[in-house]
Amino acid sequence: MNKVNKSRIRLLTVEWKNNSLVLIDQTKLPAKLTYVRCRSYIDVADAIKKLVVRGAPAIGVTAAFGLALAAIKSKTTNLKIFFQELTKAYEILRSTRPTAINLQWALDRIMQKITNLNDIALIKKVILDEAILMANEDIATNKSMGIKGAYLFSDGDTIMTHCNAGSLATVGYGTALGVIRAVKESGKKISVIATETRPVMQGSRLTAFELKHENIDVNLIPDTAVGHIMARGIVKHVVVGADRILRTGHVFNKIGTYQLAVLAKTHNIPFYVVAPSSTFDLKNNPNDIVIEERSKDEVIRIGKKILAPKNIGVINPAFDMTPPHLITKIITEKGIVSPPYTKSIKKLIK
Ligand code: MRU
Repeated sequence: MNKVNKSRIRLLTVEWKNNSLVLIDQTKLPAKLTYVRCRSYIDVADAIKKLVVRGAPAIGVTAAFGLALAAIKSKTTNLKIFFQELTKAYEILRSTRPTAINLQWALDRIMQKITNLNDIALIKKVILDEAILMANEDIATNKSMGIKGAYLFSDGDTIMTHCNAGSLATVGYGTALGVIRAVKESGKKISVIATETRPVMQGSRLTAFELKHENIDVNLIPDTAVGHIMARGIVKHVVVGADRILRTGHVFNKIGTYQLAVLAKTHNIPFYVVAPSSTFDLKNNPNDIVIEERSKDEVIRIGKKILAPKNIGVINPAFDMTPPHLITKIITEKGIVSPPYTKSIKKLIK
């Protein structure tokens, strides 16, 4: 994995270039806008694990390109060995992060596309074409969700968001922030309240950076200020993304989403989730979903500084589950669904 320094400003999170995958290094934002070049699927798996790239749709498309790299870089002429190599790459990429379903969805979509093919050169082309198609579809899907969701908001609204569900969490445009962008593009004046999103700080490092970059009015608050700000009547709507949505409408998203939803309900503030159909998991039940548990270092350190006793026990779940009774609407590229979700999701997602 090589570091590529570029002064040119652009926010294309995932880009296929010269037979390699170029990713914005999100671990370095907002201090530095630098890029990481992945030349193998192992580089890609490493980048996903280290949060160089993160956000459900972005890691899905990145994993798809990872599989493309595994195929392109293979030297074998034996079809059986080729498929064994691809299966190994599939498993390694799939195991990088467990909660966002987009990762598995993207890898499965590619594998399905090639199951009946037996020409290695053709398979390599099909995999890369499919990954490129997914990257293009991602931007189109986000724009479509933006247009569909924008009408829910009015001129002068203040919108709270959590984590980063923007350009940086997708190939481009964003899900929750895509809707916010579309509201602005429709001519309405809005302002955003972004939560810091401890412990990885996707809100302060990424959402605040992205919205400033786009000239969208944004104020940052500590996660602990959510209840206070809502009680003061400042927030008109809450908009978040999702890593997985079940057929019952249970939403898995960045840790802290659940407490925002509870507080929004208490203060009668509409709570919207924005996600593409690739984020829906119609098979599993709430207890089947693995919530990623991350390193204790994320909690006890800020940078190099240790802020808690070294031997302290730490619980560091990266995601939580918001139950459907707290969610006002779910916005997708196929349309907007309302409760009861078991019925509306079944109708929308076939
Ligand atoms: O751990 P992360 O940064 O990958 O978590 C990201 C989130 O939880 C986002 O809110 C979610 O993926 C939706 S992104 C469009």
